Amino acid sequence: MIDDKTIIQRTAVFVQEKLRNAEAGHDWWHIQRVWNNTKLILQTEEADALVCELTALLHDIADSKFHHGDEQVGPRIAGEFLHSLGLDDSRIEHVQQIIFNMSYKASLGQIDFHSKELEIVQDADRLDAIGAIGIARAFHYGGFKNREIYNPNIPPQKQLSKEAYKNTTAPTVNHFYEKLLLLRDKMNTDTAKQIAKHRHYFMESFLQQFYGEWNGER
Ligand code: ADP
Ligand code: NI
Repeated sequence: MIDDKTIIQRTAVFVQEKLRNAEAGHDWWHIQRVWNNTKLILQTEEADALVCELTALLHDIADSKFHHGDEQVGPRIAGEFLHSLGLDDSRIEHVQQIIFNMSYKASLGQIDFHSKELEIVQDADRLDAIGAIGIARAFHYGGFKNREIYNPNIPPQKQLSKEAYKNTTAPTVNHFYEKLLLLRDKMNTDTAKQIAKHRHYFMESFLQQFYGEWNGER
């Protein structure tokens, strides 16, 4: 039986290899940041650290957007890999449940699984969507989709439906109001709530500065 540290290390190598050609929003660096956020949260939250770290590493190996909306692909690949390392079945199943239930889209609908470990990794993933990194990712995504950065004539939508969220062509600044500024209040753990406060404030000051410059203020 290999020790936890080796299991995590081998998983990191596996994921890095799998994501070699991933798009920048969900590349290995995203995974590394989510892993780091997870370890940060674990400093002050009680949970099965092995399950949390493995899930952080494996949560985006098969984005359903690129697998015809099949949300089972990620959990399946993760399960097969962890099985090959000899991880116990109950932990494997736990990791699979979290990956399946964790995406923002899943959280818009019915989540039918809950655990402290899910809360932690979901928070870690959401923390990577806000703050300075969140801003960078949003404009990167918008550029990839050839969106306008901002258009004062297109107001942000409140309460975007699942379909509308997927099909929007709105400017990237709108995404702040439709998702990013809502994430602070969706954090599960007290630790992530604390971390999110500062990152949220940073996005608000970014937007203030942005509008000022847009309007030709000095
Ligand atoms: P997740 O990591 O939860 O699967 P997504 O795939 O929806 O999130 O988004 C990946 C990154 O791209 C996130 O940082 C997110 O904020 C950003 N993003 C998603 N949709 C948009 C959009 N319409 N405009 C700008 N950024 C977006
Ligand atoms: Ni992610």
